[in-house]
Amino acid sequence: MSYGSGLATAMARRLGRPCVYTPSARLALYLALRHWCRPGARVLMSPVNDDVILFVVLAAGLRPVQAPVSARDGNIDPAAVPEETWRNVDAVLTTNLYGMPDRVVELRRRCDQLGIPLFEDAAHAIGTRVAGRPIGTFGKAAAFSLSKHVAAMAGGFLAVEDERTRRRLEELRDELLVPSSLRTDLTTTLRPLARSAVRGLHLVHPVWRTMRRLGMLERDTFRMDLHAPRLARCASEAPSLTAYEPWVRVDLHGYRSRHGALVRAQLRARMARLDDDLARRGVGASLLARTTWASPALRDRTADGGPPPLFRVPLLVQDRDILVDRLVRHGVVTGYIYDPPLDDYAGAEFVEPSPDPSAARWFAAHALPADPLLAQQINRALSKERATPARPPSGDREERPLPARPTGG
Ligand SMILES: Cc1ncc(COP(=O)(O)O)c(C=O)c1O
Repeated sequence: MSYGSGLATAMARRLGRPCVYTPSARLALYLALRHWCRPGARVLMSPVNDDVILFVVLAAGLRPVQAPVSARDGNIDPAAVPEETWRNVDAVLTTNLYGMPDRVVELRRRCDQLGIPLFEDAAHAIGTRVAGRPIGTFGKAAAFSLSKHVAAMAGGFLAVEDERTRRRLEELRDELLVPSSLRTDLTTTLRPLARSAVRGLHLVHPVWRTMRRLGMLERDTFRMDLHAPRLARCASEAPSLTAYEPWVRVDLHGYRSRHGALVRAQLRARMARLDDDLARRGVGASLLARTTWASPALRDRTADGGPPPLFRVPLLVQDRDILVDRLVRHGVVTGYIYDPPLDDYAGAEFVEPSPDPSAARWFAAHALPADPLLAQQINRALSKERATPARPPSGDREERPLPARPTGG
């Protein structure tokens, strides 16, 4: 039996594709990039993304090429990618930001025409479907994260097209795993429980303030420190996870740990609750999609069978940073803000900038990712704070008139 095969089988059953278990989605993405891309290859990706993913691409020895995005949902806008860029990329990586699907049918068609692989980052989108098909079944490979959906703070999968590829990627994974200790496994098991306790006891605000004061948060702003000179020196060692470890491990130091039976048993128990978790997310997403702050992509969904069971609900607000601070007083800590976009954050030395960064900048500055499991609490808090909705600038390619709808709040 291969490592994590019980978990992988459960996920394969859900998805209808063979899966490799990994301790994190970032390791799953690294495996895919190493398997399909030669060092120096150019990967088209969205700049509205977690910085960790940028560092995974760099660690794999690849050049991140930033795509124009749609201001409606922050995902790659394939129609806005210049033809010259299409001709000069070797792979495409989606984001499925907050669980809103990328334009995967179009991206797959493009990739097939060009003979390049499509990789799906499905870390936010475990329950999202497009044309009845789960996200994660459109590309050559897809990465999933249990840290996100069942708050397990460990665990992930790489879904692939066939069994032979699965076996080869398992071998590659085994070469990259590092041994775990009982102490690490205990911490990994207890962290999610501690987080639920903090929430249950309404201690979010004081605990967050104390952690910040003690320097326990790995990011002071929405992005981690780049440490550009050190990062530049690592390039000669790429591909290498070890060289890029300080950046790749942020928020999840056990991302490549070979966790023992204790952690995997906890993950199995949490995975058994996945459908309940998704159902609750669906309810919260529907509530927030009907508010005045919902992004246009989200509003379109309300008319169209409702939003997917999102990881976070993309609301669009004016003065977002002030609101983020105020929400802490209401017991809501907002994570997963990807501002500034990766090309503004890392610069041309590390990424190829987007030819049209305006929509990414706008979306990154106005997006307020709301946890659908806290939908009522967030709705009340935003109303109390008199949050003002933000509308994407006119001229966004996909802009369509918004349907008239009573505003929530
Ligand atoms: C879009 C996206 N993909 C992948 C990951 C990595 O997931 P994991 O923490 O399981 O490695 C993250 C982490 O936050 C993310 O936001």
